[in-house]
Amino acid sequence: MSRLKELRKYIDDQLSKMQDKDEQRSAIVHLYGVSLAATMIAKRRGLDPELASMAGMLHDLYAYMNASYDDHAHRGADLARDILSKLKLTDDNETELICCAIYHHDDKLVTDSDFDEVLKDADVISHCMNDISKPIKEKEQARFEKLCEEFQMLY
Ligand SMILES: [Fe+2]
Ligand SMILES: [Fe+2]
Repeated sequence: MSRLKELRKYIDDQLSKMQDKDEQRSAIVHLYGVSLAATMIAKRRGLDPELASMAGMLHDLYAYMNASYDDHAHRGADLARDILSKLKLTDDNETELICCAIYHHDDKLVTDSDFDEVLKDADVISHCMNDISKPIKEKEQARFEKLCEEFQMLY
């Protein structure tokens, strides 16, 4: 089994414990959506698509499992570190890269490392494109506009 598949299996098991089934569905759609978008963006930018995909799968798991977005990026980075060290799917550098991206993913108005930016942009793609009839959030507008330019899409 690929390590991405193995990680997804673990995350599916965790999400299956969620009581609220609507919220569970949203969690699955969002985590898999961000994972796919992160793969695409990483490939476009010459970064590691597999690690980007894994970061996408893990990035909001803390929020879904605890039904709280309070400091979820920082707490989510700790949770991701625990999971990755338990599953032994990544080496120390890879774990650090993934957890650092999760730690920074809510800081959409600042620019962090290239890999951190992949996860932020993937999150924005999911927020802005999962239902295009929804208005784009002000704090995500500039980032989404840049992404449309990068991927040659009309804003
Ligand atoms: Fe988040
Ligand atoms: Fe997210």
